Amino acid sequence: MNENAVNLWTSSEHVKDYLQRADLIAHRGEGEAALLEFVPEETRRILDLGTGDGRLLALVRAQHPDTEAVAVDFSPAMLAAAQKRFGADGSVRIVEHNLDEPLPALGKFDAVISSFAIHHLVHERKQALYGEIFGLLNTGGVFCNLEHVSSPSQQLHEEFLQRIGFTVETEDPSNKLLDLETQLGWLRQIGFIDVDCQWKWRELALLTGRRG
Ligand SMILES: C[S@@+](CC[C@H](N)C(=O)[O-])C[C@H]1O[C@@H](n2cnc3c(N)ncnc32)[C@H](O)[C@@H]1O
Repeated sequence: MNENAVNLWTSSEHVKDYLQRADLIAHRGEGEAALLEFVPEETRRILDLGTGDGRLLALVRAQHPDTEAVAVDFSPAMLAAAQKRFGADGSVRIVEHNLDEPLPALGKFDAVISSFAIHHLVHERKQALYGEIFGLLNTGGVFCNLEHVSSPSQQLHEEFLQRIGFTVETEDPSNKLLDLETQLGWLRQIGFIDVDCQWKWRELALLTGRRG
């Protein structure tokens, strides 16, 4: 297999390990709080890409309870965890889909959100997905991507890993990190407006853009 295509997220052990430490990831609460500021008041439909156990979607829906949502993931263990969280809630539809492939028809959305998921796709697919997201947004809709981006140097990368309890030997081989500026540039080229990095701590960044 092409090393770049490694993705361990279908492994239930990998998922279990992540979910056990998800609350402990340094500064993530700050990034999530920043993301919440960018979801418009008038939001009615939300799409969460790489939803995992639905953590981010639950935070957004706590602030926007009068919404319906679609939660997408491809990992059986994550889909089960999302089902456990949202199962009784008829306003959340959980969709099994591999984001390596073009998004299926899901309708239009006022907010497309994602946290720490899209960096598991190869760069070409990240860019294509950003274009698909633009096409799914209603006028005025937002894309909010709390993401793991690359550092400008190996030293900064290793410092980041150390601060989140990893080393180059133990970091997730599923990661396909890309610099922030390239991704902001793609969003602008696609036609998003108000594109910016709204929050950042080392390799964790909130990228946002709006469909004008
Ligand atoms: C680090 S977890 C983040 C989960 C959740 N968004 C959160 O913030 O806790 C990465 C998520 O991306 C999902 N993912 C990775 N590659 C994917 C792919 N090709 N298609 C769909 N989901 C994918 C994983 O299954 C996992 O749920």
